[in-house]
Amino acid sequence: MTMTQDEMKQAVARAAIDYVTAGEIIGVGTGSTANFFIDELGKVKDRIRGAVASSEATADRLRSHGIQVMDLNEVEALSVYIDGADEITLQGAMIKGGGAALTREKIVASVARQFVCIADGSKLVKTLGKFPLPVEVIPMAEASVARSLKALGGEPRLRVKDGTTVVTDNGCSIIDVHGLEIVDPVALEAQINNIVGVVTVGLFAQRGANIGLLGTADGVKRMT
Ligand code: A5P
Repeated sequence: MTMTQDEMKQAVARAAIDYVTAGEIIGVGTGSTANFFIDELGKVKDRIRGAVASSEATADRLRSHGIQVMDLNEVEALSVYIDGADEITLQGAMIKGGGAALTREKIVASVARQFVCIADGSKLVKTLGKFPLPVEVIPMAEASVARSLKALGGEPRLRVKDGTTVVTDNGCSIIDVHGLEIVDPVALEAQINNIVGVVTVGLFAQRGANIGLLGTADGVKRMT
């Protein structure tokens, strides 16, 4: 059976509902796959106490389904964080941030006991880096951070949409680093985190996914 990419995203979104435990508060990611998950969550919304959103867009979509959006500062722990990825390895290391929400995604994920990554099968890669690596930066440091990223072997490009610099929910800019072949994602994450002016790097390797649900033509494959 042939499935479109959206059908695969819908299938993993449905499968992720199994990880939503009754009476808990969960973390919810950002992007098209996360949106499918929110729509599924809306059908079982009475199961949870509420959700912490990783972006304003996700918060709006959760509310549109009548799901209570909670402030992370009022929550001690999240049972699970469910989100998509731009690339994922079999080991659970990911590139995220294609939707510019990487900082809040990393914060919310850090508080969750489990990270469940939902993605269509095209996101599975052997080596991270074909998808340009997003780095959120303080605007006054765009040029200096770009120089440091260039020194690491990448080609940094400031993210621009419709002729305007993209501004994140945190008021920062995004530099996408092209041309990297990321052989040691844990080390590169630490190295980029150390560049002054970097807010967050979209490498999720120190804390990767505990479980991956991948949509394929043969159904949803689970990786742990
Ligand atoms: C948002 O900033 C990203 O981290 C998304 O999780 C990632 O870009 C995957 O998005 P899609 O589900 O739209 O492919």
